[in-house]
Amino acid sequence: MIIFYFTASGNSLAVAKKIGGELKSISQEMKCTDLNYEDDAIGLVFPVYANEPPKMVQEFLSRAKMKSDYFFAVGTYGMMSGNPFKYVQREAKKNGYQFDYTNCLLMVDNFLDNFDVKKEVQKIPKKKIEENLAVILADIEARREKEMPAGIMTRAVTKMCEPLYRGIVSGKMSEKFTVDDKCIKYGICANVCPAGNITVKESVQFSQKCEGCYACLHMCPQNAIHVKNEKSSDRWRNPEVTLKEIIDSNKQ
Ligand SMILES: Cc1cc2nc3c(=O)[nH]c(=O)nc-3n(C[C@H](O)[C@H](O)[C@H](O)COP(=O)(O)O)c2cc1C
Ligand code: SF4
Repeated sequence: MIIFYFTASGNSLAVAKKIGGELKSISQEMKCTDLNYEDDAIGLVFPVYANEPPKMVQEFLSRAKMKSDYFFAVGTYGMMSGNPFKYVQREAKKNGYQFDYTNCLLMVDNFLDNFDVKKEVQKIPKKKIEENLAVILADIEARREKEMPAGIMTRAVTKMCEPLYRGIVSGKMSEKFTVDDKCIKYGICANVCPAGNITVKESVQFSQKCEGCYACLHMCPQNAIHVKNEKSSDRWRNPEVTLKEIIDSNKQ
């Protein structure tokens, strides 16, 4: 079993690790010219951004050629997932297959524009992450075929989020970031950026390839990177994932 994952603050990687199999980081795979894969089961785990998968995940699905008896996808999200599988299935269909099982898992919301990490951490017991993950793990183990239902309201909200999504993946999201004088130019931000969007010399420079993932904000050991009007002074890294694992996943 191969699992392709994308992660910024570790939630999706923590889920991918629990599912098991051969884990492949999408931001590393995207460096390869040969994106042909075949296995008995192929999975995808990604964070939901404005009800969609990250741009890099959609590009990966568009380029990759995959063969398997069983395809599954899990989206991790913090408040409202919408129907991210609309975009996942669309890319799969273009490549002649479809995901047999799709589901979302409510986790800590790392979108600092709207959420305070301290409050999100307090909500962990209510989110029943382990319980809900156990259901997903059992479904995948049993090779269950079931698509996450998306009613008319969910589909409408997902559609309404499209302009927001376009803003996130415009490449310019990092124009909203500032770096304060706690920055020691250690360069972790550059090493956790899956888009290679950051260079650190005399100062931290953002380019125009931002995926809007917020890894740089969450992984900075000095908490020196901020997004305009952020609601949180704390940052989040899933405790089941190390900083090294985020770097190994994302370093370009
Ligand atoms: C730019 C951005 C947009 C997001 N949009 C949504 C969203 O539409 N709905 C939601 O429930 N969570 C949203 N989130 C929260 C993440 O999907 C969630 O925290 C996810 O588990 C993070 O996964 P990771 O730790 O693997 O990066 C967003 C996060 C970011 C950074
Ligand atoms: S600049 Fe920051 S938010 Fe943008 S892709 Fe890189 S790590 Fe993610």
